Amino acid sequence: MTLEIRPITDDEVERAEFITMYSFDSPERRDMAAAVERSRRIFPNDWSLASFEDGEMTAFIRVIPFAMRVNGRGLSFGAVGPVVSAPEHRRKGHVGALLRRSLADMRERGQVISGLHTPHPTLYRRYGWEIASLRRRYAFAPKEIELMAQPSERGRFRMIKADDWAQADRVYRLHSAARNGPLHRGELWWREAIFGTAGGRPVAGDVALWENGQGEPQGYVVYDQVTNPQDPEAHSLSVRELVALSSDAYLNLILYILRHDLPQETTWNAPPDDPFLSLVADAPKVRVEEEYDLLLRICDVEGALKLRPFANLEHPVSLTLQVSDSSAPWNEGVWRVEVADGATNVEKTSGEADLTLTATALAPIFNGYISASGAALAGLITARDEQSLATADALFATSYPPFCADGF
Ligand SMILES: CC(C)(COP(=O)(O)OP(=O)(O)OC[C@H]1O[C@@H](n2cnc3c(N)ncnc32)[C@H](O)[C@@H]1OP(=O)(O)O)[C@@H](O)C(=O)NCCC(=O)NCCS
Repeated sequence: MTLEIRPITDDEVERAEFITMYSFDSPERRDMAAAVERSRRIFPNDWSLASFEDGEMTAFIRVIPFAMRVNGRGLSFGAVGPVVSAPEHRRKGHVGALLRRSLADMRERGQVISGLHTPHPTLYRRYGWEIASLRRRYAFAPKEIELMAQPSERGRFRMIKADDWAQADRVYRLHSAARNGPLHRGELWWREAIFGTAGGRPVAGDVALWENGQGEPQGYVVYDQVTNPQDPEAHSLSVRELVALSSDAYLNLILYILRHDLPQETTWNAPPDDPFLSLVADAPKVRVEEEYDLLLRICDVEGALKLRPFANLEHPVSLTLQVSDSSAPWNEGVWRVEVADGATNVEKTSGEADLTLTATALAPIFNGYISASGAALAGLITARDEQSLATADALFATSYPPFCADGF
């Protein structure tokens, strides 16, 4: 038996798509033509990796190149998805081998961090991806919601389509500039992942753009109205993304959603620092859940630490990290991070470190999801002393909690 790992060729797109569609039980697997065409159009083969046992494709992953804003700066990011294996070849370690190989590839490509979404965090933790963001989910009956504040102007709404993607992108970029977690979306991503359709359904839904009285776009909402085919009376509406640059934009967008009063239930995926609950007159009318969201991986510890903007501290800071990493051995060792006058220096050193941790534990500290003190409290890292933890907490502090609205 031979196991080969390599990107797929044009002739292998259909098999890769079939494994994907089958694994996620997509109805498209019964008529693959549209999915194969979409895949060929959107994804170059060299973003893929597949395993072949005696020539037969057994598992498939894709790493989409993006940049992710981390504390206000775009870092080169590998978005991993899908990760699938054919059921008859599962539990043979093929996906594990693909994930390991993807780490070496990402490092070579300068993708210093990587992320994915998954219902199987324990699988990915073995290879260094760790839960590193939360998503808040509101659910409410729109007719029951009254707001504590009103906008100062009504402005104007426009439903926009794929060719208007740049108008939403302008708002998105301004909103993401200083934030932590948003991806840099390109035209293709807007057209396919926000405005596109798959299997006859919109991927994300409709997009409504809000302009203020001067005609300036200040916010948009992406939402999908769903009628249950078994019960035409059962309507729901899900808000995929709501982005607002001003209070008037935020309030108008929420009112716009609330005026969709047919749904029995409206749900909204919001960032963990969203203020909606404080805005609602009768808070118990809103159910709030928080779920883990993105898993993050530091593919290249040295490169990622060099690029990450650290908190603006008044005095120079030095911190040493002893990192272990069984899937990416180039990350192993003691790293000294020195930050002074806005400049960062990272180099390998030796001796006892301030913090001792795995690359897995470093990921959620890196993007500010958890503090070093929190990780030490939970027994996930060890620190030389309290001062080391205080230094790490101050250094890795972020202006916003991490949040990425994109699925991939
Ligand atoms: C999840 C999935 C990709 C795993 O594929 P696989 O070929 O079985 O993975 P591997 O054999 O390479 O497993 C690698 C390791 O992860 C473990 N593992 C596999 N699936 C796991 C799961 N769902 N949860 C926890 N650990 C898991 C394996 O036991 C193995 O560990 P080991 O080396 O200690 O034995 C596959 O079951 C699948 O395609 N599922 C349907 C689609 C899906 O859920 N994809 C992932 C979405 S993020």
